[in-house]
Amino acid sequence: MDTLEFIRLLLLAIHLLGLAAIVGVFMVQLRANSGFRTGLLLGGAITQVVSGLALVGIREAGDLEVNNVKVAVKLVIALIVLVAAIIAHTSQRRGRKVKPAFHTAGGLAVVNLLVAVFWA
Ligand code: HEM
Repeated sequence: MDTLEFIRLLLLAIHLLGLAAIVGVFMVQLRANSGFRTGLLLGGAITQVVSGLALVGIREAGDLEVNNVKVAVKLVIALIVLVAAIIAHTSQRRGRKVKPAFHTAGGLAVVNLLVAVFWA
C-alpha cells in the first residue's frame, strides 16, 4: 500500500468516526428533551466537512474518480448539518430550545449517509 492510499484510508476512518459521533448521539438521545450532547454533535459535524473535503482532495491527487455532483450535494447537506449543530450547541449554552436543531442535524446526517451509500 502506498502512502497516498494509506492517507485516504485514514481519512475515510476519520470520516466514519465523525459520522458515528453525529448519528450515535442522535440515536441515543432521539427521545430526550434535555441534556443534549451538542458538543459531540458539533465535533462530528466539523469532522465530516473537514475530512470529506480532504477525501475529495486525496482522491483527486491519486487520480481516483470523484463524482462532483454527489460531492456538491453532500457538501450542501453537511453544511446545513454544521449550521444546525452550531445552533443546537449555542442554544444549549444559552438555555434555549435545542431539540429542533438537534434533530435537524441528526436527521440530515442520516440523509447524507444514504446519499453516500446509494448514489453510485
Ligand atoms: C454528515 C455528513 C456526511 C456523512 C454522513 C457522510 C457519509 C459518508 C459515508 C458513509 C461514506 C462511505 C461510503 C462511500 O464511500 O460512499 C462516505 C465517503 C465519502 N465522503 Fe462523505 N459523508 C458526509 C460528508 C461529506 C462531505 C462534506 C464530503 C465532501 C465535501 C464527503 C466526501 C466523501 C468522499 C469523497 C467519500 C469517499 C471516500 C473514499 O472511499 O475514498 N462526505 N461519506
